[in-house]
Amino acid sequence: MCGIFGRVSTKDVVPSVVAGLRQLDYRGYDSVGVAFLRPEGMYLLRNVGPAVDLERRLQLKGFPTSTCGIGHTRWATHGGVSERNAHPHLSSNERVAVVHNGTIENYQRLRTELIALGHVFRSDTDTEVIPNLVQRALEHGAASLEDAVAEATSHIHGAYAVAVISIDHPNVIVAARNSSPLVAGMCTDGGVLLASDEAAIADLAGSILRLGDNEIITLRIQDGLTIRGQDKRATLARLQQPSVRAEDVALGDFETRMAQEIFTQPLSLAATIRSRVNPKDHSVRLGGIERVLQRVSDCRGITIVACGTSYYAALAGARLIESLARMPVHVKEASEFAYSDPILGYQDVVIGVSQSGETMDVIKALELAKVRGALVLGITNTNASAIARMVSAGVYLRVGPEFAVASTKAFSGQVTVFAMLAALLAEAGKRGVPTKTWSLIDDISRIPELVDETLLTHETVTRIARTYAHCKRMLFLGKGYGLPLALEGALKVTEIAYIDATAYGAGQLKHGPIALIEPGVPVVVIVPNDATLRTKVLSSVHEVYSRGGSVIAVASDAVMAGEDGQTITDTSAEVIVVPYVKDELAPVVYAPVVQMLALGLAEALGRNVDQPRNLAKSVTVE
Ligand code: AGP
Repeated sequence: MCGIFGRVSTKDVVPSVVAGLRQLDYRGYDSVGVAFLRPEGMYLLRNVGPAVDLERRLQLKGFPTSTCGIGHTRWATHGGVSERNAHPHLSSNERVAVVHNGTIENYQRLRTELIALGHVFRSDTDTEVIPNLVQRALEHGAASLEDAVAEATSHIHGAYAVAVISIDHPNVIVAARNSSPLVAGMCTDGGVLLASDEAAIADLAGSILRLGDNEIITLRIQDGLTIRGQDKRATLARLQQPSVRAEDVALGDFETRMAQEIFTQPLSLAATIRSRVNPKDHSVRLGGIERVLQRVSDCRGITIVACGTSYYAALAGARLIESLARMPVHVKEASEFAYSDPILGYQDVVIGVSQSGETMDVIKALELAKVRGALVLGITNTNASAIARMVSAGVYLRVGPEFAVASTKAFSGQVTVFAMLAALLAEAGKRGVPTKTWSLIDDISRIPELVDETLLTHETVTRIARTYAHCKRMLFLGKGYGLPLALEGALKVTEIAYIDATAYGAGQLKHGPIALIEPGVPVVVIVPNDATLRTKVLSSVHEVYSRGGSVIAVASDAVMAGEDGQTITDTSAEVIVVPYVKDELAPVVYAPVVQMLALGLAEALGRNVDQPRNLAKSVTVE
């Protein structure tokens, strides 16, 4: 995924375009670029590296001034990471500049045709066909830049969000989208702007307009925003209050986004459960799915599709629904499900889980589920995202915008939503054991305070992270509800510390992974609170201990003993003591431990925590 920003104003827009790109950095940071309309022509600057590097170059060159400009942060798909592949891309005659998110599926054919017509290509990207198609439309009688963009986009297939400027059309930006998100806004201090992400315009926009698929919008100083084919009044009627506030995107006193998102989980999870859970009468209310609740409760089975962290949250969610509501639930990797031949029909429910609501693999999986007639629901964090728009009903996480590439508060929010959903389905279907459901509801209402308590382990976890930062591999073990958390912990460590971390079910250890245990190998073990499961996990701990592995136990009691009478402290190199909670909510309440461990390891190794190599916040391509 990449980021788009654009602004037109009577005042200089250059500082706000650069600030917007810094805000969008998390969407892709391998290269960044800007194009501004200047009286003497098109000003273009592109740079490999994050937005702050581009800003430094602009400073060295002397900031230009301009009243109209576009910018882009890139996560490479077509074409390697280089200045010439960075956006904006220019048309052959260098009079049109374009920034683009998404993938143009038919670009090879278009490129060949345009080259045959004399157009010159300077990059390896699919994007470059767009400015050339716009140039061609302008040369062949398009009456306006808007008409030219309409003509150009009629030739392209695929998912896209584009913003276009031309030196022949001063103070105008034309933007179009299909599948990739794009939001326009009216600035509180005058002018109009657009971005691929509402968070990027939170401090500037007084009102916003979310562009629909296949819509084209023109941004002008004189008459603000106009959607092609709609009169001015219809466009204005679509303006909404922004759903992201400036304070939601502020970093505050934290050094990194990831740290901020980990340590504010008590607050974000309080928002997830607010007005949804009432421990007094043991009730749960999820307004977004009320309309379809009966159909979900009566369904033949639930399939959950997701990727990465959301997939691990879904594994915990499936266990919660099966155990509480006694309904069959399957979890599928969205990228596999989308190209499988699932047995699905009207009696089935498919839930897409995605923090961003933009992950293309999940979108494709949900499209297939829709074609097969299933009821399609969404659990996402992003209002009006592609997934939020395509589902019949859903639940928002409400944890606030998540910027760090490594997902943290979204994971705990997703499992919390699944816990609420499980309780709701148990009650709606009159299934399961009521006292078990009520007790879960009580526990859900205590999540914020329990997570707060877990965060108190910060110093211990950071010390442990420093001790093991130079290990060459790390293992995570879990059982029952601990397994999804172990998987999530291994993913966190892999993606931001670049340590080869793998998670296994504790019982799986002896079937192969035990070969990896040698003196000093750190093995993080999520110890269950359920007595039966705990005994099994403690015997895995013993297996690691007796082969010299260094067990890092996450346990609610440091003196819990296994069948041999040895306590967890006897057999572990480290014990991180966390608050007691029933295992159902362990993935939420103990999540901060694995998140802080990954953060501590990455910091000890000097990694760029918020911008790990090769990654982007969400993956909008397959
Ligand atoms: C998590 O830390 C990852 N960066 C990644 O696995 C992510 O969870 C995955 O790409 C899914 O994203 P989504 O929740 O926005 O769909």
